[in-house]
Amino acid sequence: MARIIGFFNQASSMGKTTLTVNLGFHLSQRGNKVLVVDMDSHSWLTRLLSVEPNELKTSIFDALMAEKEPPIHKGIQGVDLIPANRELSALDANLSEEKNRQFRLQKVLKKIELEYDFILLDCPPNLALASVMCLVAATHVLVPIETTEKGVQGAKDFLVTFQNISQNLNPQLKIAGIIPTRYDGRKSIHKLKLKTIQNSFARAEIPVYPAIGFYTDFENAWDNAIPLASYNPRHIAVKPLEQIAQRLEVV
Ligand SMILES: Nc1ncnc2c1ncn2[C@@H]1O[C@H](COP(=O)(O)OP(=O)(O)OP(=O)(O)O)[C@@H](O)[C@H]1O
Ligand SMILES: [Mg+2]
Repeated sequence: MARIIGFFNQASSMGKTTLTVNLGFHLSQRGNKVLVVDMDSHSWLTRLLSVEPNELKTSIFDALMAEKEPPIHKGIQGVDLIPANRELSALDANLSEEKNRQFRLQKVLKKIELEYDFILLDCPPNLALASVMCLVAATHVLVPIETTEKGVQGAKDFLVTFQNISQNLNPQLKIAGIIPTRYDGRKSIHKLKLKTIQNSFARAEIPVYPAIGFYTDFENAWDNAIPLASYNPRHIAVKPLEQIAQRLEVV
C-alpha cells in the first residue's frame, strides 16, 4: 500500500514545496515509484516541475470537483505529478454545500494509489479545505519547520491541528516526523530553536530528522527546475535528504 505523506505546516515558507520535490527525487532514486500532488493554488510545485499552471487543460481541481481520475504528468525529475493551478482557490466556495467534501482527495487517490510506493502531498500554508483534504487522505504527515520562532509556533499549531484531524476525520493518521529546515548554524537563535524543536518533539516521541541547512543553492536549483542533487550532487545537504528518504521507507 502506498505511503501517502502530507507535507504540512500552517505557517508559510517553511520549505514544504522544496522538500516535496527533493525528497520525491531521492525516494525515486532509491527505486520507489513516486507521485507528487500539488494541493496549493499558488502552484509552485507544478512550476518547479516545469509544468505551466496557466496552460493546464485539467488539474487536481477538476478531479476533486468531479471525483474522477486525476491528470498525471509522468516522469518529471523522477516523479509523476498531479498539477494545480489557481482554480484550486475556488475549492472551498465550490464545495461548501457538499457533505463529505473533506474525503474527496482520498477518493481521487484511491483510483491510482496502487500504482505508487509514495504519494507526497504539497499542502498550502493554511487550514482551508485543501489542507484538510490532504490530512484526511494522508497515511502520514511530515512537518517541515524553519528553525525560527515562526517555525516553533507553527509546530505548536500543527500539534493542535493533528489532534483535531485524528480525533474527528482520520484516526489512522501518523506523524512521520519533523524536518528542521532553512537552518542557519551561524545564528545563535537558529541553534537555540533547533534545540527547542529537537527536545520538545523527542519528549513527545515524534521523530526529528536531520536538519537541512539554509543554502542559496536550494533557490538556484529551484530556478533551474531541478532537485538540489541534480544541481550539485556533492552538495552538503544531499546527504541528510538521502537519509530522510531512507527513513521514510520504514515509517
Ligand atoms: N534549506 C533551504 N535553504 C535556503 N532556502 C530554502 C531552503 N528551503 C527552501 N528554501 C527557499 O525558501 C522559500 C520557501 O520555500 P518553499 O516554497 O519550499 O516553502 P513552503 O513552505 O512550500 O512555502 P508556502 O507556505 O508559501 O507554500 C523558497 O524560495 C525556497 O527556495
Ligand atoms: Mg509551498
